Amino acid sequence: MPDMLCSLIRLPDVRPLLNKLRKDGITLRRPNPWEQKELREFIMEHFTERWADETSVAFGSKPISCFIAMDGQQIVGFGGYECSRRNYFGPTGVDESYRKKGIGTALLLTCLEGLRDLGYTYAVIGGAGPVDFYKKAVGAIEIPFDEGKGIYGLNEEPKYLFAKP
Ligand SMILES: CC(C)(COP(=O)(O)OP(=O)(O)OC[C@H]1O[C@@H](n2cnc3c(N)ncnc32)[C@H](O)[C@@H]1OP(=O)(O)O)[C@@H](O)C(=O)NCCC(=O)NCCS
Repeated sequence: MPDMLCSLIRLPDVRPLLNKLRKDGITLRRPNPWEQKELREFIMEHFTERWADETSVAFGSKPISCFIAMDGQQIVGFGGYECSRRNYFGPTGVDESYRKKGIGTALLLTCLEGLRDLGYTYAVIGGAGPVDFYKKAVGAIEIPFDEGKGIYGLNEEPKYLFAKP
C-alpha cells in the first residue's frame, strides 16, 4: 500500500457535501476529549486495534486532529490527521452500512483542510488502501518509494536508512 501525495492548494469545497449529509442526518465534527473511549471502541469494532492506537495520537493535538461522522449520537465514520506522522492523513474508515454516501470524502476533505490550516501546501495519505478513491476525491498521486510500501514498510528510522546497494 503506497503513500500518496495530494495538493492542498485547490481542495474541492467540502461545504455542499456537508450540507447534503446534514440533510441525511449525518454531521461531522471533531470528537471531544471525553469521547476518546467511544471512538476507540468504534475503530476496534469496525477496523483494527492498530488504527485505534494511531488515531489516539490525534487527542494530543489542540484542536484534536481528527473528525468523526455522527448519525445522531452514533459514530459512523472517522478520519485522523497528524497521527501516523506530521502532515499525514489517516487512518480513516466508515461503517460499512454507511458507505457510498459521501461520508468518506467529507472526512477526507475536512481533515485535509485541517492540515492546510496548519500551513502545509501538500499532504501525505499514509499507506493508501483504496488508491482510486483518493485519486478521484482529491487527485492524489502515488509516491514511488521502496516498492510502494510507504512508511508502514520501514524497518529503520528514515534518518539512518542507507540507500540500497
Ligand atoms: C475508503 C472509505 C473510507 C470510503 O468511504 P465512503 O463513505 O464509502 O466514501 P464516499 O461515499 O465518499 O465515496 C466516494 C467515491 O469513492 C468511491 N470509493 C469508495 N471506496 C472506494 C474504494 N475502496 N476504492 C475505489 N473507490 C472507492 C465510491 O464508490 C464513490 O464513488 P462514486 O461517487 O462514483 O459513487 C470506506 O470505503 C472504508 O471505510 N473503507 C475501509 C477502510 C479503508 O480502506 N480506509 C482507508 C485506509 S487508507
